[in-house]
Amino acid sequence: MHKKKTLLDLQRMKAEGQKITVLTAYDYPFARLLDQAGIDVILVGDSVGCVVAGYDNTLPVTMDEMIYHTRAVVRGSEQAFIVADLPFLSYQIDMVEARRNAGRLMQEGGAQAVKLEGGCNMAATIRAIVDMDIPVMGHVGLTPQSIHRMGGYRVQGKQEQHARQLLADARAVEAAGAFALVLEGIPAPLAAEITATLEIPTIGIGAGVDCDGQVLVIHDILGLCDKFSPKFVKRYADLGDTIRSGVNDYIREVREGIFPGPEHSFK
Ligand code: KIV
Repeated sequence: MHKKKTLLDLQRMKAEGQKITVLTAYDYPFARLLDQAGIDVILVGDSVGCVVAGYDNTLPVTMDEMIYHTRAVVRGSEQAFIVADLPFLSYQIDMVEARRNAGRLMQEGGAQAVKLEGGCNMAATIRAIVDMDIPVMGHVGLTPQSIHRMGGYRVQGKQEQHARQLLADARAVEAAGAFALVLEGIPAPLAAEITATLEIPTIGIGAGVDCDGQVLVIHDILGLCDKFSPKFVKRYADLGDTIRSGVNDYIREVREGIFPGPEHSFK
């Protein structure tokens, strides 16, 4: 039995210059595999809407769906720190809903922390949730719940003025009490500057190598998603091919009367 990681471990890792590893998971078997491999943090991302439910973006994902997936991941993990995403519309309406929904992810889902998207505009909400003793991970840059405002999944902060705004957003998230910050889809030098400025750990996705940690979507790195793959994704395995070939063998053996054999049958 491994000791469960806490946010103190993540803060210590930044202080000691040790990289923090984060991957998404949405169910029990993947949570177990990632946990056994030694991942530091599992993010139950609202990316579940795209890679599991097949939506075009994360906007349709609901609180009840996030709670369902978070519970499964929590049951599958022993040592990893579990962060669950607050989905679209669960924290933007008002502070009361934001606090209740953050609390639900902890109480009903069993998460150790929640993540929400936004910078200066969400600072008061982050503070309100942190004041309930719920750890919050921020998320700035390319924020997928803002896809329609951004006009698509586009790198953010390329112009100087936008870069300054993102730095201000990152500072506001830290000042509001967040324990860590995801930097998504921003130029690597800007991510390096934000990382050097903040005391809390930064977790990059499409934000270069200088962040304190890295996060990717598990389906992307294992070749389980054959839709569009962004430039920042590296594929570490091709489970898609493995699964297709296993299923092809099964289909052939059933059709040819090879499966089930005597060893799979009862006398
Ligand atoms: O939903 C998600 O998976 C995320 C990560 C990609 C950061 O927010």
